[in-house]
Amino acid sequence: MTDSGNHFEGLRGGPADEEGAGQQAAEGSAEHGSVAGGSVAGGSVARGSAAGGSAAGGSAAGGSAAEEQRPRARRRRKIGTPPPAYARRMLGDGHAPEPEDRELPAEPADPLAARKAERIAALCFLISFLGSAAFIAAYVIFQVRSVDQAFRSNLALGLSMTVAFLALAAGAVVWVRNVMPYVQLTEERHPLASTDEERREFATTFTESTEATQVVKRPLLRRSLLVALGPLALAPLLLLRDLGPLPRKRLRRTAWKKGTRLVVQSTNLPIRAADFSTPGSLITVIPEGTGEDLNAVAKAATIIIKFRPGELQHPTVMNWTVDGIVAYSKICTHVGCPAALYEQTTHHILCPCHQSTFDATKGAKVIFGPAPRPLPQLPITVDGEGYLVAQGDFVVPVGPSFWELG
Ligand code: FES
Repeated sequence: MTDSGNHFEGLRGGPADEEGAGQQAAEGSAEHGSVAGGSVAGGSVARGSAAGGSAAGGSAAGGSAAEEQRPRARRRRKIGTPPPAYARRMLGDGHAPEPEDRELPAEPADPLAARKAERIAALCFLISFLGSAAFIAAYVIFQVRSVDQAFRSNLALGLSMTVAFLALAAGAVVWVRNVMPYVQLTEERHPLASTDEERREFATTFTESTEATQVVKRPLLRRSLLVALGPLALAPLLLLRDLGPLPRKRLRRTAWKKGTRLVVQSTNLPIRAADFSTPGSLITVIPEGTGEDLNAVAKAATIIIKFRPGELQHPTVMNWTVDGIVAYSKICTHVGCPAALYEQTTHHILCPCHQSTFDATKGAKVIFGPAPRPLPQLPITVDGEGYLVAQGDFVVPVGPSFWELG
């Protein structure tokens, strides 16, 4: 019954001073002697007191008339006032339903403080929104083409995201601590399986808790939170841009083209077929003109091996070889290590990472290890000056079996 003077604004019942002359109306009473707190002590209206001559509701006829003449705007229920059914019951309406026995209070203890906290929380959410927007702007504006630019970009991204999360957390803390009702609940130990009654209680608690968050009742809080969360959810999507442009067919191509000379990787010099005459030799070659482009070199690295006549067998493509010289991709088809350990006696190419072994005389087919397919063979020939050149690119993709071709 305390503080009910606040609760009953707009529900005043009538002229309580009709009960006795000369009595003095306390706080909340008007010229009609309105009831504050629903009780009258000895005919005097006392806020929150409950002794003697009740005049709850002050339901005199004159009160009803005054009620009708009073502007309807004053009858509006404000935040913090009790629900109408509960108010009627407090005013002595015997037909009013019993108030629900709640586990959690529907309202915070101090509505004014809650209102103030709501504004602070909304301000925090607004700051969070600005932080998220700044994060997106920083991501778009700051280029990262140098170390300095990357530093500035990281600083801007970090600061803006810090502000966004910090303000969001601060708003949530203010909301929970000052807007939601504060209660302490103790739950006793019980069997693990919930009874039907417990489930019903849970549903009730959940419903009341949702109500207690005030999120439905306070649109300012709700909307400012949604505004804060919107760009925050969008920010991670922007990071997908860092995956770069779609590779399209670039991963299926290497720098080898028709007529491109094979140059020794260590010297960048082209090599004649006649100069590579020692059977069992192996050299790593790259396309001429790609020495500075490390990405191109990494994909196009190739080994050439010299064999004696008759050593090369099916499925090696013979018309892609020159005088017993065959060229294979150096990139292991397992996970892409350089496969360049060559056993001259067995003609096996070994990958040092997981010991995949390829038979160089038989189209580099896999004879051991996890590699799922042979090293691709590069079609080679010689140009007019006798230098080894490519007939074209590899006909199948090189490298790891992301390309699993069956
Ligand atoms: S990368 Fe060559 S065997 Fe694994």
